[in-house]
Amino acid sequence: MDLVRSFAEARGRYLGRVGLVPTMGFFHEGHLALMQAARQGADTVVVSHFVNPLQFDDPADLARYPRDLDRDAGLAETAGVDLLFVPQDLFPAAPATRIALEGLGARLEGAFRPGHFTGVATVVAKLFAGLQPDLAYFGRKDAQQVAVIRRLVEDLSFPVRVLAQPTVRESDGLALSSRNVFLTPDQRPQALLLSRGLLEAAEAAEAGERNGAALESLVRHRLAGVDVDYVALASQDQVERLTDLDRPAFLAAAVRVGEVRLIDNVSFDLVAGEVVADRGVRLDHQSLLYR
Ligand code: PAF
Repeated sequence: MDLVRSFAEARGRYLGRVGLVPTMGFFHEGHLALMQAARQGADTVVVSHFVNPLQFDDPADLARYPRDLDRDAGLAETAGVDLLFVPQDLFPAAPATRIALEGLGARLEGAFRPGHFTGVATVVAKLFAGLQPDLAYFGRKDAQQVAVIRRLVEDLSFPVRVLAQPTVRESDGLALSSRNVFLTPDQRPQALLLSRGLLEAAEAAEAGERNGAALESLVRHRLAGVDVDYVALASQDQVERLTDLDRPAFLAAAVRVGEVRLIDNVSFDLVAGEVVADRGVRLDHQSLLYR
């Protein structure tokens, strides 16, 4: 594996189809699953490693975001990554050009984190323009981010195929996130209510419940006593709030447990008129986040 610092240096090492995994580092098994998918689908696997200041609405959150390049380089090497792209700074000066997605970028996460998706779309567009991948891999845990990026690609005609991969969960159901390292043992039971509520709602949806308010209230009920930002059933493509589960959708929630903000969702696809929930995949061992 080579560590590269510039777009040209990365592109100079390409062979065949290029798969990009955009990341902000501090890898966990969710990132490794994206790298493995890219390894299977592409000839050259590039992982970008950049904590993007544009997508943080809270400077304290940016300052404490976990970082460890040596650890990450070792993990990427083991996952079979060819190029770890670690730019010195993608935005040495505040960019005058930013990409704001109307509508779907302003709802749910966008309403609670103003400017977040503008920051995401701007950095991802810059990575697509500079690295020119054929394929790009994102986690379904950030379902709204996937919608935003698919729309960005469509609107600006980036010649890249976006592939969304299942959420990876710890053995108790908690969705992997680099931020999980900040959860104290005391906070973990509260954090777990998030995936429990969503997974219960997934059972109900597969058993025939189609009413959005009913599915949302199952999650809210499980989250009693937790600081909830939102619980919402939304369409996968437009991120529009749904009254009924009658098209590809995701049921998402965001909560705050102490200083840690957690998001999670279950996605629903319709197969021959039946609802099929994507609950993600579970680890059967302790996450490497805590080793
Ligand atoms: O999902 C993330 O880690 C980030 O939002 C991304 C896509 C790498 C952009 O900074």
